[in-house]
Amino acid sequence: MPNVAGHLYEQVADSIAEMIEGRVLRPGDRVPSVRKLMAQRGISRSTAMQAFQILEGRGMVEARPQSGYYVKPQAAHFLPEPEQAHHHPHHDEYEHVELEGTAASVAAVLESFRYHPENVPFGVATPATELLPNRALNHCLAHAARTAPESANQYDFPPGYAELRRQLAQRAPDAGYQVAMEEIVTTCGCMEGLNLALRATCRPGDSVAIESPTYHGLLQALESLGLRAVELPTHPKTGVSLEALEATLRKTKISACLFTPTFNNPLGSCMPEESRRVLVQDILAPRSIPLIEDEIYADLYHGSERPKACKAFDREGLVLLCSSFSKNLAPGYRVGWIVPGRFQQPVQLLKFMNTLATTTHVQAAVAEFLQSGAFDQHLRRLRRALREQVQRVSNAVAEFFPAGTRVTRPAGGFVLWVELPDPASDTRELHRAALRQGISIAPGHIFSARGRHGNFLRLSCGHPWNARMEEAVETLGRLAGR
Ligand SMILES: Cc1ncc(COP(=O)(O)O)c(C=O)c1O
Repeated sequence: MPNVAGHLYEQVADSIAEMIEGRVLRPGDRVPSVRKLMAQRGISRSTAMQAFQILEGRGMVEARPQSGYYVKPQAAHFLPEPEQAHHHPHHDEYEHVELEGTAASVAAVLESFRYHPENVPFGVATPATELLPNRALNHCLAHAARTAPESANQYDFPPGYAELRRQLAQRAPDAGYQVAMEEIVTTCGCMEGLNLALRATCRPGDSVAIESPTYHGLLQALESLGLRAVELPTHPKTGVSLEALEATLRKTKISACLFTPTFNNPLGSCMPEESRRVLVQDILAPRSIPLIEDEIYADLYHGSERPKACKAFDREGLVLLCSSFSKNLAPGYRVGWIVPGRFQQPVQLLKFMNTLATTTHVQAAVAEFLQSGAFDQHLRRLRRALREQVQRVSNAVAEFFPAGTRVTRPAGGFVLWVELPDPASDTRELHRAALRQGISIAPGHIFSARGRHGNFLRLSCGHPWNARMEEAVETLGRLAGR
């Protein structure tokens, strides 16, 4: 705690000690100079010197001749382990802003998705970095910075990087629709596109129809925008129930539908083409209800063809298609896009208000990678690897999980949705027990706004199969059977 009552030099020493303990200053780092400290804190030379003497006395810093004070290497033993959250005393003041509802229950689970090399990563849904063309992307990034050092460092206002939009417009016919470059807005990941789409179509308090189960990020987006999630039953093969949707529309005012028709996360379901047509043209168009279509997994089909997007059946501009390169190329780049249809203007304005612009370099790098023609070849390899990994994990679940366990056969993507035979099972407990054994999984309840799917878990198969993973599935099966 800051030494509020003590001498000024003690307070200064304590605040620097806090920076060392919190790893803001690490062993070997230079501590701010006497002169800097004097200016920064409005203190005299002698106060600054006294503070350093205290820190030296505590063994936290050492003076180097002609150079100043440095954090001592031995100071490492004061430090908490990096993965242990450092408790900052001032955080106490903010306890009242703790998250509530879905966001709160999901937050703890999401923390366990953070990549730790020592954990077996069945939790987070990203492909292993070794399956991504990192070197080629780095090359594109460096090239973008080198060839356009000024323009790469300018705001790239909405609708976003022209060459990237050109490449995306060239690829749109693969999904069964055609679009002009001007009708695409680039975003910071798919998540920004989804948020913009929700804000352009709904007002706080409105109801949005979603699939159940659905990606927890969508539930959190709804919650943070003050929107109500109306969950619809969703079939693991054919996707959301259109009968249930029609029944809901008869009794509830729905402002938008937010679906992942192509390989729902976590189900891997894929709506048949005819159902997409019925959804867009027969159910939504007559009622002027927008469909926000999350297409993020669509390039990762396991069959022979990429399914058409619902956007392909959109005659009214009511479909807002959102996607990104996070699942197939570069999760860290945060490059996504939205095709907002008749909501182009509000989406573009909201994008401007939300993040002003998408990072320029990374858009340029992705555009160059697409232009090089390497993307399709990469996708072919990635699809093969992911399909194989899904099969391996699925086989192991069949072998090691309790009799009566059911597992999806996804049509694309790389996650499996596993149902434990006992409806009373609680995979929250399994999640905790697995983590203690160094295995990360996603418990079912985070995929529902109502805490449903408690006896389900999602296994992400983004990483190449190996003996360690097999052992982990065996351990999970044993824990699940207890
Ligand atoms: C269905 C779905 N939509 C959106 C996202 C997030 O996309 P991005 O990382 O591009 O914001 C995810 C990530 O898991 C997802 O599964």
